Amino acid sequence: MKAKARAHTNIALIKYWGKRDEALFLPTNNSLSMTLDQFYTETMVEFDSKLKSDQFILDGMEMDQRETEKVSLFMDKVRRYTGESRYALIDSVNHVPTAAGFASSASGYAALAAAAMKATGVNFSEKELSKMARQGSGSASRSIYGGFVEWQKGELADGSDCYAVPVLEQGAWDLRVLSVEVTHEVKKVLSREGMKRTVETSPFFAGWLEAVAADLVEAKAAIAERDFTRLGETLERNALRMHATTLGANPPFMYWQSSTVQVMEAVQVLRESGVEAYFTIDAGPNVKVVCQPKDEERIFAELMKLAVVQQIYRCQVGPGVNYLEI
Ligand code: PMV
Repeated sequence: MKAKARAHTNIALIKYWGKRDEALFLPTNNSLSMTLDQFYTETMVEFDSKLKSDQFILDGMEMDQRETEKVSLFMDKVRRYTGESRYALIDSVNHVPTAAGFASSASGYAALAAAAMKATGVNFSEKELSKMARQGSGSASRSIYGGFVEWQKGELADGSDCYAVPVLEQGAWDLRVLSVEVTHEVKKVLSREGMKRTVETSPFFAGWLEAVAADLVEAKAAIAERDFTRLGETLERNALRMHATTLGANPPFMYWQSSTVQVMEAVQVLRESGVEAYFTIDAGPNVKVVCQPKDEERIFAELMKLAVVQQIYRCQVGPGVNYLEI
């Protein structure tokens, strides 16, 4: 009873920021992402009646009790949902530069959910995989699918209508994302804590909720029309609105460093010179720049000139979850 799955990371163009239910990972708003081809996690899960507890190996190393417990809590959710009672060996390899502050939780929990559910011997739907992945990390719900993906917040209190749906398939629109690394430092305020503090204390959060609903409508229309300018303007505005909520929190916090702002400014300068590039930023200091294929080289070359830039990873639109031979 074993299975192996690969899932890719995604970058939110319209952000998930705020939970209405912490335990079930139910968000306050819909979000929309693009799956990335460069970064992924491969995870093998094997249920074994001989095991007395879950065993977790990450990048070839047996994890300590604390790390294993986190994964085990998630496996408990899988066991409750599927009726599987055995413990499992979980062997996971991250092809995501975690040290550089790129979130591996999305690809990690999407791959784990897919492999674990498959290893029970039952074929679950992608909708069910998305719901399960969500309960490891919210953004993981979107990594089940390739291309452009919307995570619907749902209305129900039990989360049964809270999952991601595909918006546009992988090959339908060739956009590029330059992942610009400005620091290796681990982020100070984790997304879970940052969201909680913002929801509870930021007077700007109400404004965020109002704005994000309109931004989502705009982004979906832009995707349907393949209108890059409209999508770019919307995604950049949405990222700034998300980060604005953190400044209003108590105590306030900020994910940007001076290097982050330098990359943002360089993107604006590029735009003033007629090159279409738009930035977005998650719960950390690194910047993702979205562009069309024709402008990628130029943007890459310009951003590489900045002294604060350590590395730039070039991404294209990536695929959804797939299963691998063991
Ligand atoms: O799923 P989490 O807990 O990693 O939260 C993700 C939050 C953001 O990256 C800031 C936005 C998003 O939608 O991915």
